[in-house]
Amino acid sequence: MKLEKRIVIVAEINKKAIGIADLAIGSYRSSHTANLAISIRREYRNIGVGKKLIELGKQKGVKVIYLEVMKNNKHAIHLYEKIGFRNTGIFPKKYKYKDEYVDGLLYTFVLE
Ligand SMILES: CC(C)(COP(=O)(O)OP(=O)(O)OC[C@H]1O[C@@H](n2cnc3c(N)ncnc32)[C@H](O)[C@@H]1OP(=O)(O)O)[C@@H](O)C(=O)NCCC(=O)NCCS
Repeated sequence: MKLEKRIVIVAEINKKAIGIADLAIGSYRSSHTANLAISIRREYRNIGVGKKLIELGKQKGVKVIYLEVMKNNKHAIHLYEKIGFRNTGIFPKKYKYKDEYVDGLLYTFVLE
């Protein structure tokens, strides 16, 4: 069994976790890549924590970072595009949200 390698970066204020970025590192021929998942507590959004966590994630030695986001998540998409992620794919109707199907978008950042 191959255990998945993860890098988890936690933002804290007064020892309380307020945000998390989780990099799931690929295996074998994809071990230079990571899939990113990120979430910030609602009351701490829009103050730059998400941007900071992703910037820290970029320094962890991977060459390519992927993430997937629902097409209607304007906030997240704004942030990803602002910090250099590019839309590199689409998963049509991947999600069901409030009784509507929503596309998933693949975003990619390639580190130089
Ligand atoms: C998406 C998320 C990670 C962003 O983290 P954050 O700490 O709030 O992001 P930052 O403060 O670093 O940056 C926010 C940017 O989005 C912009 N923004 C906020 N709401 C927005 C909206 N509705 N539409 C477009 N842009 C928006 C802000 O103005 C800011 O951009 P600016 O610096 O150019 O002004 C956070 O909102 C979150 O956890 N959301 C819920 C979970 C989620 O959606 N995770 C991502 C799944 S792929």
